Amino acid sequence: MYKYPVAEPEIGEEELKNVIEAVKSGWVSSKGKFIEEFENLFAKYIGVKYGVATSNGTAALHLALAALDIELHDEVIVPDLTFAATINAVLYVGAKPVIVDIDPNYWCLNPSKLREAITSRTKAIIPVHLYGHSCDMDTIMETAECHGLYVVEDAAEAHGAEYKGRKVGSFGHVACFSFYGNKIITTGEGGMCLTNDEELAEKMKTLRDHGMDPKKRYWHNVIGFNYRMTNLQAALGVAQLSKIEEFIEKKRRIARLYAEGLSSIEGITLHPEMPWAKCVYWLYSILINEEKTGITKDKLAEKLQNCGIETRNIFYPLHEMPPYKKYAKLSYPASSAISRKGLSLPSSVKLSEEDITYITQKIKEAIS
Ligand SMILES: Cc1ncc(COP(=O)(O)O)c(C=O)c1O
Repeated sequence: MYKYPVAEPEIGEEELKNVIEAVKSGWVSSKGKFIEEFENLFAKYIGVKYGVATSNGTAALHLALAALDIELHDEVIVPDLTFAATINAVLYVGAKPVIVDIDPNYWCLNPSKLREAITSRTKAIIPVHLYGHSCDMDTIMETAECHGLYVVEDAAEAHGAEYKGRKVGSFGHVACFSFYGNKIITTGEGGMCLTNDEELAEKMKTLRDHGMDPKKRYWHNVIGFNYRMTNLQAALGVAQLSKIEEFIEKKRRIARLYAEGLSSIEGITLHPEMPWAKCVYWLYSILINEEKTGITKDKLAEKLQNCGIETRNIFYPLHEMPPYKKYAKLSYPASSAISRKGLSLPSSVKLSEEDITYITQKIKEAIS
């Protein structure tokens, strides 16, 4: 246990009250008033018509791709720098992932590399809003439209993040969110698909529930999954959602404090925020230039660990890992460099100004 963990949920009385109400109601599985309430409120918050709550974010991605009929021999473009769930969902539907490099300036899918990767078999693009920073959605949507491709936004880490003043998750044909315990808001485990397409929303609801015909119980026209969210999870989610703006403000304040404390250190690159983006800094991450700072990333992490400060490596590039290597047909200089240098710092909304001052002080001491 660290005194300063990378992420920690903030769960209060409102959450407790809702969960107790759900337990007392007896609706502890996937029926109950909180599920629809959470779906409607979250969809409204992002600015999309329909929400389909799921058991986790990975299930949301799988459900979205299955509902879009993506299958064997189709190609789906994913960024090299992301959590494995993004590419796993493509593999679950039997499609071929095409791994594309990121933009080194904001660490998300590189739109010009994306264009080069499109073939006659490409069916969809999964832009990932990494660490709470938006992708370049105008360029991605234009490219998708031009080639007739689906866009499935992976917004697991970016609740409330914005692109040109509009919330991410409102651009693609479907957007998928995660509510895992370390996310901006949590339902314990949980996820959601959002879409403006009513038919697609209904299809995702059917597939989420074993493919059961909604008008004829226990009759199955298609093979589905059990990807339902429970009423207990949704009860937690409704209470968390009422605090989302407060959480985002806290994340942005933490980012400002880190930037103030670390900007003078030569060899440290701060977490980016492009002029067109509002980043929600899911995990505030820095890049360490080992030559300039005179310390390796591992050594810095070890020194911080000795002071009770947890850090986390930025994701390993997909193209380097055993199950995904065979899908790496392009070059990946940006994701390789960012992953090699990147370290995520404690980003929990529970951290105070004094905590951040202490952490930045320890980083300075470790480097000098
Ligand atoms: C980018 C990204 N996509 C998908 C997921 C999957 O979400 P879950 O852990 O809820 O299955 C995560 C979770 O950490 C993620 O970071």
